[in-house]
Amino acid sequence: MNPQRRSAVNGTDGATAAFDHEAFNPEAFDPEAFDAVDLIRCKRDRGELTPAQSRWLMQAYTAGVVADEQMSALAMAVLLNGMTRAETAAWTEAMIATGERMNFSGLTDDAGTRLPTVDKHSTGGVGDKITLPLAPLVASYGVAVPQVSGRGLGHTGGTLDKLESIPGWQAEVSTRQMLNQLRQVGAVVAAAGEGLVPADRKLYALRDVTGTVESIPLVASSIMSKKIAEGAESLVLDVKTGSGAFMKTSEDAAELARTMVALGTDAGVRTTALITEMGTPLGRSAGNAVEVAEAMEVLAGGGPDDVVELTCALAAEMLASAGVDADPAEHLRNGRAMDTWRAMIRAQGGDPEAPLPQAKHQHTIPAPDSGVLTHLDAYAVGIAAWRLGAGRARKEDPVSSVAGVNLCAKPGDTVTAGAPLLTLHTDDPSRIARAEQALEGAYQVACQETELKLPPLIHDRITAEAL
Ligand code: URA
Repeated sequence: MNPQRRSAVNGTDGATAAFDHEAFNPEAFDPEAFDAVDLIRCKRDRGELTPAQSRWLMQAYTAGVVADEQMSALAMAVLLNGMTRAETAAWTEAMIATGERMNFSGLTDDAGTRLPTVDKHSTGGVGDKITLPLAPLVASYGVAVPQVSGRGLGHTGGTLDKLESIPGWQAEVSTRQMLNQLRQVGAVVAAAGEGLVPADRKLYALRDVTGTVESIPLVASSIMSKKIAEGAESLVLDVKTGSGAFMKTSEDAAELARTMVALGTDAGVRTTALITEMGTPLGRSAGNAVEVAEAMEVLAGGGPDDVVELTCALAAEMLASAGVDADPAEHLRNGRAMDTWRAMIRAQGGDPEAPLPQAKHQHTIPAPDSGVLTHLDAYAVGIAAWRLGAGRARKEDPVSSVAGVNLCAKPGDTVTAGAPLLTLHTDDPSRIARAEQALEGAYQVACQETELKLPPLIHDRITAEAL
């Protein structure tokens, strides 16, 4: 067992939170305790890894003792043969033990009262700007929201990329600043530090290039290792399903949600999940600054119905898990959530009153016919936004703040032939043709009389009790 080191970080009034370092300890690690080839054979032959084997594997892989080709063979064997619940839990714990673990149990407000902490994770979708209104909304009820977020890769956007379109806003936050901001504002949205689950950093990049991303135990352990290491007491998961989601079917989304709820629960984190629709984009924008603008409409008490509904549903879950009985819609109506948003943006160097950047070029795609819009595909809109410059193909690529797509209509709306259906935004007009190509066949208009049954926004709720 690795020795556990703990370093406390003091907030302004002496309130503390800490990093528990259960990190890889070269002195305690025996590179010859196991053989990577035996572990690969075990998974290839449908066996189950022991917790000691998983611990060794993650430490050895992080230290470069297990080679990438051995880890990719093992990941493929896991993808093909799966893992048991106990095995996935031990694998996840082993990943966490390769890095730092945050601990907010000493977080208090100015009066010395302990602050509950709640985190949220979305498996990613098109137009998913929910973290932006959600974090300040929940914080406005006195619950601390330490939200470590990522940048986008592929067709789904990243929360940090969106927030970076606000002039001056900084994603990099020290631990001390995070604690002070949680105490003074209640919410922080920041980039993960290098020390958080280094095994996942390596393994996720490897899975990306070896066709081993789409394994439920590997996805669940990757997400939950980071979320558990982030140290919040409660966690609410938004597991998306549909064309714009990682999990295309509701069966796969439900299995992923159950696996993640089980992992969180087994690690002592109160965890619930909502399974939500991602067949069509969320709200009326997909991109960076365009999504911030929409999030601010929601914080101002307006915004698209689906964004408001999902923000309030997730906020209700988060508040309930922190023991707060409140109707989240109230602080959207009375401006308290907007006040917290402004404070949150200012605390990270941003100017919440500054105008958001606008694209130099706009291109409108008209509705092909008059009638009811029956379909507008999330994946196609995500690819179009990406091709306009809102997303990146490789981790190190820059993104354009101004690139994105606005939806002038949503499925179920009446449209008129020739009236705008979608507006494309970019600084680089040479990108428009490829974005238009992505949208070919992505929408359908039917006559007014067509009976249309739209899927619900929230498909299901998964709790630990129901596992
Ligand atoms: N997001 C993650 O962090 N990990 C995965 O494996 C998939 C999505």
